[in-house]
Amino acid sequence: MKVFGVDIGGSGIKGAPVDLERGDLAEERYKVLTPHPATPDAVADGVKEVVDHFGWSGPVGATFPGVVTGGTTRTAANVDKGWIGTDAAGLLTARLGGEAGGSPVTVLNDADAAGLAELRFGAGRGRTGTVIVLTLGTGIGSALFTDGRLVPNSELGHLELHGHDAEKRASTKAKEDEDLSWQHWAHRVQRYLAHVEMLFSPELFVIGGGVSRKAEKFLPLIEGVSAEIVPAQLQNNAGIVGAAMAAYAAQAGEPPAADGSPAAAGAAPQTAPADRALRSAVDSPVGWPDGGR
Ligand code: BGC
Repeated sequence: MKVFGVDIGGSGIKGAPVDLERGDLAEERYKVLTPHPATPDAVADGVKEVVDHFGWSGPVGATFPGVVTGGTTRTAANVDKGWIGTDAAGLLTARLGGEAGGSPVTVLNDADAAGLAELRFGAGRGRTGTVIVLTLGTGIGSALFTDGRLVPNSELGHLELHGHDAEKRASTKAKEDEDLSWQHWAHRVQRYLAHVEMLFSPELFVIGGGVSRKAEKFLPLIEGVSAEIVPAQLQNNAGIVGAAMAAYAAQAGEPPAADGSPAAAGAAPQTAPADRALRSAVDSPVGWPDGGR
């Protein structure tokens, strides 16, 4: 079973068909540079170029580096402000030819996508309790899970720490901009993790983003955090894989209610169907192609 995943980032828009049994790219990914300014329209063209490169016409999942509810992008901390209030799912679906053409698009937060992929296929596989996946990059993204269920749009990168937006101090961009040593930056990450731990008491932190490839340079320097801290495993492809998972869950249908009963017919939904589906995308209640993990 293959579904297309696209990761929209500040520097690149990259995507590939994803093999959902293996949780890996089915083909080598294709990347275009993110246009500047990264307006919704210009980015939609980039997404189309990536999807068209593969001649893909099935479901597509796309990540976005901000809050996404009901397919609408709500914040844009590190991208063009024109995204705020944009029906991103509608825009991308129309740009890819419309649902009739075969490419409905599901849009979700980038860290939530990475988290879904790590919880199902990577460093958080099979883990229960409270798990927090943090992506350290231009900003800090977060994905909060309780017993494998996602609480979307947690935005823990914007916690205030010592009077600053945490991501302005502890992201890898802060490390680069301020030319911080690993030791100095690890100290900031440690203070940030201690703060998040104080608030949520997670059992596990999964640290993602490009810097997870260099985990040995900074994770051993972090002390005084009780939770287990491990590097992400899917690294650069987590967003693409998670986007495809979300699109699969959204396509596959309505998940049952929390007590396992089928979604009540006629009940007034409080949450958009795609959002409900993505909460349970790690253990899709509609069944994964491989029949479970
Ligand atoms: C945004 C998040 C996003 C993170 C990583 C933050 O600035 O607010 O939504 O997940 O950056 O891209």
